[in-house]
Amino acid sequence: MSFTAVHPAPLRLCRSQLFVPCNRPALFEKAASGPADVLSLDLEDSVAPDDKPQARLNLIQGLRDVDFGDKAISVRINGLDTAWCYRDIIDILEQGGERLDLIMIPKVGTAADVYAIDMLVTQVEMAVGRKKPIRLEVLIESAMGLENIDKIAGASPRLDALHFGAADFAASMGMRTTNIGGPNPDYVILTDPDEEGSRQSHWQDVWHYPMMRMVAAARMHGLRPIDGPFGNYGDPEGFKAQSRRSAIMGCEGKWAIHPSQVALANEIFTPPAEEVAKAQRIVREMKKGHGAGMGAVALDGGLIDAASIKQAEGIVRQMRMIRAAEKAQKPGKSVKVPPSRKTRKSKAK
Ligand code: COA
Ligand code: MG
Repeated sequence: MSFTAVHPAPLRLCRSQLFVPCNRPALFEKAASGPADVLSLDLEDSVAPDDKPQARLNLIQGLRDVDFGDKAISVRINGLDTAWCYRDIIDILEQGGERLDLIMIPKVGTAADVYAIDMLVTQVEMAVGRKKPIRLEVLIESAMGLENIDKIAGASPRLDALHFGAADFAASMGMRTTNIGGPNPDYVILTDPDEEGSRQSHWQDVWHYPMMRMVAAARMHGLRPIDGPFGNYGDPEGFKAQSRRSAIMGCEGKWAIHPSQVALANEIFTPPAEEVAKAQRIVREMKKGHGAGMGAVALDGGLIDAASIKQAEGIVRQMRMIRAAEKAQKPGKSVKVPPSRKTRKSKAK
């Protein structure tokens, strides 16, 4: 272990992060009563330029009036290269009360971008006497953002999470992609011919490198890595496969761009039952061991080290939060999965 300590961001649930465009304020209540862990109230790309000022007003009203329960509330502001960014921060923090938890900065390219937002947030917080400091989420979605990711991830003590945005990233890189955040049938390797001369084509994950890079940078700075959107919300199996892959890489959650994706993300990013049972056993054995004056504890014939104890405690705490969130969840109506893009196309023919 390095002598340099990593201080993890405070624990919170973020299995599913539902995006809600602020030009549709009627969706705020619906999103608030659903099972998403985090709501991302969006002022950026889901809102047309002419609607920006009204969307900001809707958001401020929503932050004051809607009962969001225990959910973490995040606002995706407009980027630093737009005419709306400064006023997003100033108006929301001056007029939106204390309910907001997080600000997501889109299209971050350098550490200075985070510094600039931190400076502005700090000033407004001081001016209004805000009690709960805003935490920041960064959206990595450009070649520049990825290349500068280590510096970005260490740019402010307010930082909480790094997110990967596949669509803008692909555009910035000049990639050829199909479904946002999904696989591409042309990104394959062809096996050598076997004895009969037949060859197999294996799909590869075109998002693997930037996402692994993001997970490493996030973990190095104690931040949570979150996977971004999966565009074809009519394809729940596709969404689950991509989510499972992200969870295996170390991501703590995934965006939902339609409410039908929320339950799927919650399912995939809830630690598996065996993992939870093992974590509970580790915590129990550790308590017993410490009670008996033993520093090191054995489990299943092996020694439990400090890292596995920390991880086990984290899982147990996370499960407690998940159970509390499920208990607080009002029984709502389930949201239908719309037909997938392919089905819709074939119906239109
Ligand atoms: N939050 C809360 N509720 C939502 C919702 C959202 N983001 N999107 C849809 N709903 C509700 C609808 O109002 C509808 O409710 P109802 O049954 O009471 O009428 C139900 O869920 C089913 O919605 P559906 O008709 O299938 O979707 P839609 O056509 O209204 O909207 C989208 C589809 C994609 C436009 C919408 O989900 C959306 O705006 N998503 C977020 C997009 C976004 O922010 N993108 C930026 C990040 S990539
Ligand atoms: Mg984007």
